[in-house]
Amino acid sequence: MAMSGSAIGLGNIWRFPYLVGEYGGAAFVLIYIMACLFISLPIFLAEAVIGRRSGSSNFGAFNKLVPGSRWRWLALLTVFSPFLIVSYYSVVGGWATGYLFKSFAFEFSKPTTEVIGMFGTFSSNVWMPLICHTIFLGLTAGIVAHGVKKGIEKFSNWSMPVLFLMILIIMIYSLSLPGAEKGVEYLVKPDFSKVNGRTVASAMGQSFYSLSLGVGTILTYYSYVSKKENILVSGLGTAAFDLLFAIMSSFAVMGAVFAAGIEPGTGPGLIFESIPFVFNTMGQQMPVISSIVAILFFLTVLISALTSAVSLFEVGVAYLTEERGMSRRNAVIFEFVAAWLLGALCSLSFGPLSSFKIGDLNIFSLCDTLASNFFMTLGGFLFVLFVGWKMKRSDVYDELTCGGTQRLPVCLFSFIYFLMRYVAPLVIGIIFISGLIG
Ligand code: PHE
Repeated sequence: MAMSGSAIGLGNIWRFPYLVGEYGGAAFVLIYIMACLFISLPIFLAEAVIGRRSGSSNFGAFNKLVPGSRWRWLALLTVFSPFLIVSYYSVVGGWATGYLFKSFAFEFSKPTTEVIGMFGTFSSNVWMPLICHTIFLGLTAGIVAHGVKKGIEKFSNWSMPVLFLMILIIMIYSLSLPGAEKGVEYLVKPDFSKVNGRTVASAMGQSFYSLSLGVGTILTYYSYVSKKENILVSGLGTAAFDLLFAIMSSFAVMGAVFAAGIEPGTGPGLIFESIPFVFNTMGQQMPVISSIVAILFFLTVLISALTSAVSLFEVGVAYLTEERGMSRRNAVIFEFVAAWLLGALCSLSFGPLSSFKIGDLNIFSLCDTLASNFFMTLGGFLFVLFVGWKMKRSDVYDELTCGGTQRLPVCLFSFIYFLMRYVAPLVIGIIFISGLIG
């Protein structure tokens, strides 16, 4: 549940639906599944093998598996990148918190012109986004402070089923709206003419991000997993839940967007601009129902972001407790303060600090670009290379079969190992270099 919680997040709600529509509907989903199976899943398994075999989080894991090796210094990068991500992810989680408050206050039933400009006004304000960022990061830190079992697992165990139930209700409602069939058509019509190199690259990038790879969240979570747990099964399960949620939110979001007769967008614009407009339009005929659905929707966004943020936050805490000897409480406070400060700068980069730019990127976009375009890919490359080339093949087999107690046909293992050793590093290497040269 915690693993799925990490995977299911904003990527599923604000990017996947758009990519599906833009890159050929069912054709894209098919390519996405392939990308998951042949590239992202091997990287997922690599992180899982390192984490569970070492029983340590990112930095210590490499040292334990190959003592004294220089790999651990590279691994420091994967301690830093989740910290970077959680800082700005928390700003977006804060926006979701703010919008949840707005839906409780029926703000989407205001005159349409006000709703359209709402996001710009909200995000460029100094205080409200900062307060919401503080609430969101505080919730994240609070869950992590309770520990892995009593905090993260307990929260994920009840929130994941609730999340699925909520997205199911929203999807059914959304698809029952007149005009939603255009959204369904946008999503499912397979259009192979839209499939090209970019489609494949987008599918790979999305599956990578969506499965939370390259920053050691999966590695850290697996360091807590019992030796009896079948890694292959839990990996496939996580990928399947993640895909199911992404497909359900695609129908929920695009059904409503098309029913309201607006252009589908992606990123923050889709959730914080298009969707409020949908609630505004719907609210003219059904004010009560539309307000309830708005509350459900922003609660879904908030919880899904929270379970992802928790996994990112835990990486830093695991490092500080395992390697720096801090107590969990102090580690949480330390990371909270540091992430709050960086997040505050990201939040202000939509308002008073908007003119501070490096290249044409504000602080928020700079953190996002650095983390998702460079650090994540580099991290994924590092993990898969370590398992494929530095660890013993027999150790990898041992880990995937839980010390030989679980069945894994040798030919299947050889295939997975081949993907880890050659295919995945090659593909991520290409993605990384093409990212560098733009
Ligand atoms: N998978 C999360 C999402 O889809 C994002 C994430 C990336 C979470 C990396 C943790 C680590 O939003």
